[in-house]
Amino acid sequence: MTAPHTPPPIAMLAELTHRCPLACPYCSNPLELLSKDAELDTATWADAFRQAADLGVLQLHLSGGEPASRPDLVELTQAAHDAGLYTNLITSGIGITPKRLDALELAGLDHIQLSLQGTTPDLADWIGGYKGGFQRKLTVAQEIAQRGIPLTLNAVMHRHNLNDLDRTIDMAVELGARRLEVACVQFHGWATRNRAALLPTREQTEATKQKVADAARRLRGVMAFDFVPPDYYADYPKACMGGWGSAGLNIAPDGTVLPCHSAQMIPHLTFEKITDKPLSDIWYNSAAFNAYRGTDWMPDTCKSCDRKEIDFGGCRCQALMIAGDAAATDPVCGKSPQHARVQQMLADAMAAPETEFTYRRMG
Ligand code: SF4
Ligand code: FES
Repeated sequence: MTAPHTPPPIAMLAELTHRCPLACPYCSNPLELLSKDAELDTATWADAFRQAADLGVLQLHLSGGEPASRPDLVELTQAAHDAGLYTNLITSGIGITPKRLDALELAGLDHIQLSLQGTTPDLADWIGGYKGGFQRKLTVAQEIAQRGIPLTLNAVMHRHNLNDLDRTIDMAVELGARRLEVACVQFHGWATRNRAALLPTREQTEATKQKVADAARRLRGVMAFDFVPPDYYADYPKACMGGWGSAGLNIAPDGTVLPCHSAQMIPHLTFEKITDKPLSDIWYNSAAFNAYRGTDWMPDTCKSCDRKEIDFGGCRCQALMIAGDAAATDPVCGKSPQHARVQQMLADAMAAPETEFTYRRMG
């Protein structure tokens, strides 16, 4: 049954592929990566974009993996543009040649979000697990700037690069970014395998908040900032996806329609495919999308809390990972009966010896 007054989604993330030349150890893709054979074809994606626009979606994020691994990226962008969607390409830059960039611009691409793994070739190539990636990324950033395509630089921050934040901010300005997203690693997907190697210290986190606030003031009118703090150190959880099934949805490379990128880890939920059912039917009527909509499903800790319509009880996937129950209060919350487990995880990660990354890999 549909929750009363379910609004249409505003944003959709299309994971066009799980293929990627990089191997970032914090990738939010699932541990079980899908191969090329499982991917939707061009016509099915184009139809999904039309259905999304009809449903009310305004923004489409073309993501992956690396979306440039799809030879039909320009056609897909054109299809999304023709459907009336605002298109944002989320890319490492690898595979975006000047010729392709021209074609993407012609196809109506509205915005590019370029990832930044580090501020030096050694650091960036080590974190991304791809030699030469940093230099290629800089070239792509210059090509984007020359064309005037709006650019957001997405810097995923963690223990090994947070001390480089000043240089990251300077680089974003030099590259002509209109926005810098300082996104501290969120522990989903591959990042859960690398928690001890990536988790920043509390001191790094506090210094980061202050630096971002100072830079945002200093650069007002030049570059905007988004800051995603590491929520293990927060007092309250984040409103994951703006609330389950309330503002956005994801489509996995094989067409599985998901309320968030990690939802398939919740074992009792069944997710439907765009190839089997209309998108609007899945959004409004599927059991998976209705499972944690609104506030009726909440445990008493959240139901009686005045933040219940601010953070919607936090993240369902994190509740499952840490509390063992997707319907529990997110244990990041100080009111959660399982909050001590987060404290213990922090203590364990800080006490752990320096470890090698487990890089994201297929198979
Ligand atoms: Fe959010 Fe629930 Fe914590 Fe209240 S108790 S702050 S609703 S997670
Ligand atoms: Fe699944 Fe937060 S990642 S609800």
